[in-house]
Amino acid sequence: MAWRWRLISFLLWLPSFWNDWNEPCRRHLLNQDSKEAFSIASKQYRTAFHFQPPQNWINDPNGPMLYNGIYHLFYQYNPYSAKWGNITWGHSISTDLINWTPLDIALRPSEPFDLQGCWSGSATILPGNKPVILYTGISESGHNVQNIALPKNISDPFLLEWVKPPYNPVMVAEGVKPTQFRDPSTCWLGKDGLWRTTVGAEDFEKKAKALLYRSKDFVKWTRAEQPLFSTDSSSMIECIDFFPVSAKWKRGLDGSTIEAEDVKHVLKMGVFDNSHDYYLIGKYLEELDEFIPENVVEDDHRMWLRYDYGSFYASKTFFDAENRRRVLWAWSNESDTISDDIVKGWAGVQTVPRTIWLDENGKQLVQWPVRELESLRMEKVELKDVKVSKGGLIEIKGVKASQADIEVEFEFPELKKAELIYHDWKLDDAQMACDEMCSSVPGSIGPFGLLVLASHDLEEHTAIFFRVFKTSTAHAVLMCSDQRKSSLWPELYKPAFGGFVSTDIKEGKISLRTLIDHSVVESFGAGGRTCITARVYPKLLLTGDTHIYVFNNGSETVKITKLKAWEMAKARIN
Ligand code: FRU
Repeated sequence: MAWRWRLISFLLWLPSFWNDWNEPCRRHLLNQDSKEAFSIASKQYRTAFHFQPPQNWINDPNGPMLYNGIYHLFYQYNPYSAKWGNITWGHSISTDLINWTPLDIALRPSEPFDLQGCWSGSATILPGNKPVILYTGISESGHNVQNIALPKNISDPFLLEWVKPPYNPVMVAEGVKPTQFRDPSTCWLGKDGLWRTTVGAEDFEKKAKALLYRSKDFVKWTRAEQPLFSTDSSSMIECIDFFPVSAKWKRGLDGSTIEAEDVKHVLKMGVFDNSHDYYLIGKYLEELDEFIPENVVEDDHRMWLRYDYGSFYASKTFFDAENRRRVLWAWSNESDTISDDIVKGWAGVQTVPRTIWLDENGKQLVQWPVRELESLRMEKVELKDVKVSKGGLIEIKGVKASQADIEVEFEFPELKKAELIYHDWKLDDAQMACDEMCSSVPGSIGPFGLLVLASHDLEEHTAIFFRVFKTSTAHAVLMCSDQRKSSLWPELYKPAFGGFVSTDIKEGKISLRTLIDHSVVESFGAGGRTCITARVYPKLLLTGDTHIYVFNNGSETVKITKLKAWEMAKARIN
């Protein structure tokens, strides 16, 4: 078998050789005083360690899996243009989740059951180590149907070719709108020996449903009478993910781990009405095949939890059996215009893969970039016990400010100094609060945090910061990722994203990790309890006037107890 691994390593290494060898030519092109280099089409907006294909449009991650030591990532891909359309399944592979090699398109429209598009879906590894894909096809008549695809040659380590058996489609819309019925989840096996999957749909009363299907042989699928879950609070739910988490361990669980005392389930839904991913934690009752969410008093998605409060949608997890972890991927859309994307020739990236687990409090999930990302860390600068008083601004020098990983811990004085607010915020109010109280609106404990991709005069910057409040009963911590000053280019979407942080702040400490990757600013508050991804296009990337600062605009001095910032190497991505 050794020859096989040598061949795999060689083939995975080839594109990196090409990249390195080709780099000077690319740099030369970049340095050209061309119109492109000084426009939104500049290569400076392409990412160094976030997944993206060489060109064109991508959206949802599809069917991620680890098969025989190789990670596979498929994604919604338009092979002809930088805008959505002609949807196929692009395919890339990796041995470390960080460096990726592109392969041929895995699924493209070819049959009456997917002639208008191969839309999102999932992969499941069946007993005997046999991967299978379940995906949504847009049929000749424009209906959403669910199809199976199987590897042509199971012993091909790259799973290059996929065949669509003639018994497709395996599910067609019944009792739901035929154009709103899609994105089958990874399948799980019940104790009764039946496979199950859930598919998002909209019924004729505009109610969203997570339909449940069962199958003995993975060929003939029968719809269960009762859905796994349904809600009135959105018309349609897309890209459902349904998986178990351990209430005891950080490690991940195989999708078919069902009822056990210390196992809870997560139901993640993409809410079509606002393109946000929400999730609920609860119990999956296998006997009834029903998901019962915990702590939900109202049928209102605005009260549900979110993985990420920024540019983050259509996410999907997979179980990495070799490392016993569950890994999360998501699509992060551009915030420029479609015409900008066409000029750029590309649109869409994937967030960094994140390990995901249930928080100790059992009430929410926690996310952290996979540890392999740390292999890209290069030069490091460190600060310790530095006080930042009101109006303070400290520059973090010594790392390339457009490609960095920063971890910082802040300590603030007595909590009783926190500003008092007289109303109880709802979960969904955070973005509004960030909108009203930007980084320059002074507070008491906060705003404090980072200004990244900042010009020296701060005319351009993205601010990631916290503010601590007290209510009549408790404390509330607000985390914002404010894009409003992120760029001088016109016509960009520049919101102030925000989420509340559920953390025990009695010790008066909070941490922030921010990954800066050209047009991506991905932040993890309080060890990954609140995450926000921003897409920004600062003009300063074109001139190189790029800085990172720690700031404090609260009246209370905060202390940086520790800060580490690393310059990041460029991953070999496609
Ligand atoms: C979510 C989504 C899916 C669909 C796919 C089409 O972004 O709308 O529901 O399968 O994109 O590209």
